[in-house]
Formats: sequence, C-alpha cells, structure tokens
Amino acid sequence: MAVVEKALSGHVQSRAGFVTETASHLMEAGGKRFRPLLVLLAAETGDRPDSDEVVTAACVVELTHLASLYHDDVMDEADLRRGTVSAHSVWGNHVAILTGDFLFSKSSELTAELGPDAVRIQAHTFTRLVEGQILETVKPVPGEDPLAHYLDVVAGKTGSLIATSARYGARFGGASPEVEAALTSYGEIVGSAFQLSDDILDIASESGESGKTPGTDLREGVPTLPVLMAQASTDPADARLLELLAGDLTDDGSHAEALDLLRKHPALDEARAYVIAQAAEAKAHLTALPAGPVRDALEAFADIVAVRST
Ligand code: IPE
Ligand code: IPE
Ligand code: MG
Ligand code: MG
Repeated sequence: MAVVEKALSGHVQSRAGFVTETASHLMEAGGKRFRPLLVLLAAETGDRPDSDEVVTAACVVELTHLASLYHDDVMDEADLRRGTVSAHSVWGNHVAILTGDFLFSKSSELTAELGPDAVRIQAHTFTRLVEGQILETVKPVPGEDPLAHYLDVVAGKTGSLIATSARYGARFGGASPEVEAALTSYGEIVGSAFQLSDDILDIASESGESGKTPGTDLREGVPTLPVLMAQASTDPADARLLELLAGDLTDDGSHAEALDLLRKHPALDEARAYVIAQAAEAKAHLTALPAGPVRDALEAFADIVAVRST
C-alpha cells in the first residue's frame, strides 16, 4: 500500500498547478483505500502478487473511485468528504465536475498500460457505475419493487468497481481464470454490502466517525435499505415516521426527527442482518480458493465490511 500511495500522489499531478491542487484535494484528505487494498489482497491468490501491473491496477481503481466522489458530492450537494470540505464547496460545481473528469482520464491512461482487456473491463465498470448513479435519481419504474431498484442501483454504483478491484487483483497477480471468476463474484457482493453498510452508517453514525455529514441520503430523498425496510412496516406506532419519510426532509426539524426515529427503529438492525447475510454469501465464493492465510484474509475482509463502523 505504501508503494501504491506514492504512485497515486504522482498520478494526480497536472501540468497546471491549479488542476494539481483541485485533484490532490480529496486524494490527500485520506480515505480508507479500500479498493486498492482489495486489489493487493486478491493478487495474493496468484503467483506474482508484487508485479508492477498489480500496483497500476490498484491505482486505476482508486483514481476511478476518487473521480466518482467529486461527481457524487455535486449530485448529493454534500459539504463534507473524507473529513474535509468537498471540492464543489471550495471551487464550485464546474471545477469539481471537471476535476472528476480529469481523474477519470488519468485512470484511463493508466488502464491502457494494462492492455485492451483491462480497458474493456474498466470501461464496462464505469458504464455500470454511471448507470447506477443515474438510476438513483429516478424512482423505480411502475411495477418495479423499490428494494429491487435500490439493490440494482447499489450493485451498479458501488458493486461494479469493487468487483473489478478483486478481478484486477486476481488477473494481474497471476491467478487462474477460475479464481479470477470467483473473486469477481465475491467482489460484486462485498461491494454491494459495502454500500449497504455505508447507507446504514449514514443513518447511525456521527460525522466525526465517517468524515461525512450523516443523514445526507435522507435529506436528498434517496431511500436506502433501513428506510425501505421501515417503510414496509404496518405497525401504527410507525405512522409519524412513515409520514415524515413520505414528505420533504430538507427542512432541518423534520430531518432531525426522521433521523432520530430511524436510529431507534428495528429496521436498522434488520438492515444490518441483511448485510451480514450478504457477507456470508460473498464468502461462499471463496471455496474456489485453497484454504490458507489469503483465503482467511479475504473472509475477514468480507466480515469487516458487514460490521464496519467507519
Ligand atoms: C464512499 O466510498 C462511497 C461509497 C461507495 C460508499 P468509501 O467509503 O470507500 O470512501 P473513502 O475512499 O474511504 O473516502
Ligand atoms: C457513492 O454513493 C457512490 C459513488 C461515488 C459511485 P453515496 O452517495 O451513497 O456515497 P457517500 O455516502 O456520498 O460516500
Ligand atoms: Mg454521496
Ligand atoms: Mg450519491
């Protein structure tokens, strides 16, 4: 990860000082580096986990993720990211969006070094990520189950890139095609579980822990797993919560009340249980790997995603 980190700071450099400043802003703010970590971990399943291509692939996925954060904070009107002020709050939407584009381009340049298959995988990943982000802004089509719509959004916007992280790690680390396929399936489920955990944290956590403003999904009217589960309730005691959820939550008073009611609601634990079950499903794909420390670490990785608090 130290090698990846050093490479990443090089990849956000531009010939224009101002662009370097805007592109470094969130890179330097930190972040968990979850996706490059998964690349490195998955690479341990192959016979060349230390290859240069593994490091390049790790940078590709983090740069793609970082770019998506610049765009996401514009979409979500989020003020806080990685414990610091979001890019659009500093430089405005135009610069934030174009910085995201710059980072996507950097990521693409780097992917080209990995050959045409990697480019094709990366392009398809990005297609899915963007579709997911767009579908989040629209309601389910008539007759579509809201939970199915949400899970489809989550798989696109987050599952896709985390699946590719696991896949790239296996591929460039020299694993067999069978292991690459198993890790892709594992990554897809872990990735969706990661987003579901994040959505639970958006309700349950304090901003000091997450580096983001809690309740952003509610304020933006994005129904997430705990909300969808609470909305399925027929308990008359939930009438006030359901009324609030059906209304406008951009008002501070209604927003605080809804957040408070949700934090106490059994739907939160129901959502947590769902995510833990997803982690178990992800781990089932690891039976394609030989038993040993790498498989153990990948199992632990899925467990941590399900119960994470940051
Ligand atoms: C945030 O991703 C966006 C989601 C997909 C939930 P991370 O939680 O990986 O953000 P950083 O990279 O640690 O800041
Ligand atoms: C982020 O989703 C997904 C992508 C950036 C592709 P969210 O909007 O739910 O994530 P946070 O809570 O802002 O990190
Ligand atoms: Mg967001
Ligand atoms: Mg968003």
